[in-house]
Amino acid sequence: MTSVPEDRAQQADLRRSNDYDSFAGSYAAETENNLVNAYYERPAVLDLAGDVTGRRILDAGCGSGPLSAALRDRGAVVTGIDASAAMLELARRRLGDEMALHVVDLRDPLPFDDGAFDDVVASLVLHYLQDWGPTLAELRRVLKRGGRLIASVDHPFVAYTIRDPRPEYFATTSYTFDWRLNGHPAPMTFWRRPLHAMTEAFAAAGFRVSISEPQPDPAARELFPDDFHGLSARPCFLFFQLTAADLTNAQLPQEIGKLKRPQGW
Ligand SMILES: C[S@@+](CC[C@H](N)C(=O)[O-])C[C@H]1O[C@@H](n2cnc3c(N)ncnc32)[C@H](O)[C@@H]1O
Repeated sequence: MTSVPEDRAQQADLRRSNDYDSFAGSYAAETENNLVNAYYERPAVLDLAGDVTGRRILDAGCGSGPLSAALRDRGAVVTGIDASAAMLELARRRLGDEMALHVVDLRDPLPFDDGAFDDVVASLVLHYLQDWGPTLAELRRVLKRGGRLIASVDHPFVAYTIRDPRPEYFATTSYTFDWRLNGHPAPMTFWRRPLHAMTEAFAAAGFRVSISEPQPDPAARELFPDDFHGLSARPCFLFFQLTAADLTNAQLPQEIGKLKRPQGW
C-alpha cells in the first residue's frame, strides 16, 4: 500500500485529530436526527443487514450507539466496541447496563473468539485507519463462516474531489480539516484510498465483495427539502456488504498470523 502523509505539519495533525473524547456529546447530538446519518447512512446499513433477529452482531466503532440500538430493537444480540471512552459512555447511557460495550482500538487484536459473531457492522470508521489489512483480518477472524461485514466509508470519489489540489488518486493519502461541532472546531484526519484498494483489501482478508450506493430514506424529502436533492444526486458514502468466504486455514489472510495478542485474551 502506498501511504503518503502530505507534509510534516500534517503528521502533527495526525496526533491531535479525531479526538472523539473531546467532542463526544456534540458529535452524538449533531448526528442523532440529521439527514446524512439518521436518514441516509444508518438506514442504508440497516437495510443491508436485513432481518437480524437472533444474530450476534459486533458494532465496530459504535460511537454513542445509535446503530447498536436500532439493531437491538430489531432482535439482534449486539456487542459494541469503540476507541473513545467518552463515546462509549454515551452508548452506555443509551443502551443500559446489559449491553456489552468495550473500549477497543480497531488497530489492535480484538478480544473475541474466532467465529464469535454472525455479522459485523463498521459504520463510518474504516476511513480513520491507514492500514486496513490487520483490522480486516481480525474482523474476518471473529466472524463465523458465511457471516457478513457491513461497512460504510467516505465515498472515495468524494474524498478525492474535495481536495484542492487533488491528491494522487491511486495513492492512499491522509487529509485533514476541521469539523465545526457546537460552534467549536474539531480537527479531523481521514485516510482516503482508491476504490480498487478498498475492494482488494476486503478480498485479501477473505471477503466476497458487494458494493452499494443507496438512496436516502424517502421520508427525508419532506423533512430536509433544501438538502435532499443534493444528497440523492451525488455520492457521499460508499457501502459494502461483505461475506466471510469459506476459507481453509492455508488460505486465511496472512495478517492474522502477524498480530501479537496481549496477555489475558
Ligand atoms: C463517525 S463516528 C461513527 C460512530 C457510529 N458508528 C455512528 O454511526 O454513530 C466514528 C467512530 O469511530 C471511532 N473510532 C475512530 N477510530 C477508531 C479506532 N481506531 N478504533 C475504534 N474506534 C475508532 C470513533 O471514536 C467514533 O466513535
